[in-house]
Amino acid sequence: MAYKSALKYSDITPKSDFLNRRQLMGGLGAAAVTALAGPGLAAGKYSSDETPNSLEDITAYNNFYEFGTGKGDPAKYADRLTIDPWAVQIDGLVERPGNYGLGDILAKMNIEERIYRFRCVEAWSMVIPWNGFELKQLLDLAGVQSGAKYVAFQTLVRPDEMPGVSGRGIDWPYREGLRLDEAMHPLSFMATGLYGDDLPKQNGAPLRLVVPWKYGFKSIKSIVRVTLTDTQPETTWNMLQPSEYGFYSNVNPRVDHPRWSQATERKVGGGLFAKRQETLMFNGYEEEVASLYSGMDLKANF
Ligand code: MTE
Repeated sequence: MAYKSALKYSDITPKSDFLNRRQLMGGLGAAAVTALAGPGLAAGKYSSDETPNSLEDITAYNNFYEFGTGKGDPAKYADRLTIDPWAVQIDGLVERPGNYGLGDILAKMNIEERIYRFRCVEAWSMVIPWNGFELKQLLDLAGVQSGAKYVAFQTLVRPDEMPGVSGRGIDWPYREGLRLDEAMHPLSFMATGLYGDDLPKQNGAPLRLVVPWKYGFKSIKSIVRVTLTDTQPETTWNMLQPSEYGFYSNVNPRVDHPRWSQATERKVGGGLFAKRQETLMFNGYEEEVASLYSGMDLKANF
C-alpha cells in the first residue's frame, strides 16, 4: 500500500484456546468438525473448491497496521492483544442498539465454514478457509431500521497493546464500510475462526469482516463497533489516499491502481518462480454479486 516493507516470515503466534472450537462443536456437530480438520474440505454453496493456502501462509504474511507495517509484524506483536472479554457496540439506525457481548452474539449465530478467495489491493492473493457467520445474521440481531443505507465498522484502538497506533499516518481507529445491500449479501461474512480453529490474533481475532469480492483492506479486523447510517461512512484507506483507494474497492482486473496493474496477482506460497495468475472480475464472485452494481460505472466508483 502506501508503505514499503521487507517481507519477513516470523513465528506463528500460538493459538489461543478461545471460543471457536466450542462454537463449531455446538453449531456444526462433531462430524463436521472432523471434516474441517484439514485439507480436502468439503466445498459448500459459497465456498471455493481451490486448495486453501497453508496455515503458515495465512498467519505469517499479514496486513494489520495496528501492529506494524511489516508483513511479519502482526504475527510477532498481535499476541499482546487482549480479546477476552470482547463486546461489539451496535448503534445508529437499529431497533436494538447496545453493547453486545461476543459470547451472547455467538450463541445466536449459525457458525459455518467458507473457503474464500482473498485478493489484496497490493496484488497478492490467498485461498482461506474461514469459520464464522453471515454478517446479515448480526444485523438482524440488532434489527436494521428502514432509513439505514450503510454499515460502518471500527477496529479497537489500544495503544498499550498495539505498537503501530502511536505512529503518524493513519487516523485511528481503522474504519471500513459497506452499502447495506452489500452487507446483507450472503457472501459478506464475519469470521471467528480459521481452519476449524480459533481465529489467530494477527488475522483479526476475535471477530473480523470478510468480503471476498472486494480488496482485502475492506475486510476489517478485530471489530468493536458496527454503526448503521444513512450516509456513506469514512473508510481508512480512502481517507489516507482518496485517489488510490475508493469506497467500493471491488476487485476489478480492468481498473488499475494508479501505481500498478490489477490484471494479475501473485498467489502467496507459490514459491519464487510461480507464474502470476489472472485476477478475476469481482475476484471470481461475479455471478453472485454483479447485480449489486448494475448500471454503475465501476471505473468512476472504484
Ligand atoms: N483491519 C485493521 N483493523 N487494520 C489493518 O491494517 N488491513 C487490511 C485488512 N483489515 C487491516 C485490516 C488489509 S490491507 C488486508 S489485505 C487484510 O486485512 C489482510 O488480512 P489477513 O492479514 O488476514 O490476510
